[in-house]
Amino acid sequence: MKLIARDIRKEMNGLLVLDGVSVQLDEGEFVTVVGPSGCGKTTFFNVLIGLATYDGGEIVYEGRGVENLRGLVAYMQQRDLLLPWRTLMGNVLIGPEIQGELNGETLTRAKELLSFFRLDSFSDMYPSQLSGGMRQRAALARTLMFGKDLLLLDEPLSALDAITRRKLQSYLLALSDRFGKSVLMITHDVEEALLLSDRIYVFSALPARVRRVIKVEMEKPRSIADRRFLELKEEILDELLEEVQNGS
Ligand SMILES: Nc1ncnc2c1ncn2[C@@H]1O[C@H](COP(=O)(O)OP(=O)(O)OP(=O)(O)O)[C@@H](O)[C@H]1O
Ligand SMILES: [Mg+2]
Repeated sequence: MKLIARDIRKEMNGLLVLDGVSVQLDEGEFVTVVGPSGCGKTTFFNVLIGLATYDGGEIVYEGRGVENLRGLVAYMQQRDLLLPWRTLMGNVLIGPEIQGELNGETLTRAKELLSFFRLDSFSDMYPSQLSGGMRQRAALARTLMFGKDLLLLDEPLSALDAITRRKLQSYLLALSDRFGKSVLMITHDVEEALLLSDRIYVFSALPARVRRVIKVEMEKPRSIADRRFLELKEEILDELLEEVQNGS
């Protein structure tokens, strides 16, 4: 196993937010977490990357018990912003820069990535001059530039309209298919989870527990019109609806 988070428990100001959450990810897997809004997904993400403490449970990375995944993985936070005073290329190079690896090789890799994300003609522009979809692609390129083989993404496409979102999902698929990364992604979009994931964890309403784990066997790229796809989508939506109704 690449990553095991076992029985993670967290309280915030006396409120139980994570009620024994266990999530696993195999080498090369694309795993998503879906759950009702406010159920604790970002809190779980923050615990994993070390931006929040936790009160119980354990995290095992590549067979080794760790406090959190700081320095071991690359991550992209929800509503992640590019630095407005840096060009697109300047943003993409943040990883190598803070790792002290700014050299010809990383520069070449950054250029290749910008070209893959179809941003090569915009590398000297500033974030404010770019569309939302371009900024999200740049943020993905920046995350890849950290050179880690596990990526943690919290709603990486959340700020986008439906059509741009659909277009960018193929870039998310490329993270595992083309770049060979293991990915743990949080999303509230069931279709997106079904398009991309090898496995889906469905979280309950607050406090978060794993309500169900679904192995998605369909070959990728997938079609949202596929019968099995539609069945699974209905099932997951029903479970989420039930959670929201129980929770309120
Ligand atoms: N800064 C905060 N202060 C106090 N409570 C908070 C804070 N942030 C989150 N919470 C509590 O923790 C719960 C979980 O929040 P979290 O952001 O983890 O949910 P989420 O599943 O990521 O939601 P969303 O789908 O909207 O991104 C919230 O319902 C809220 O009660
Ligand atoms: Mg969140």
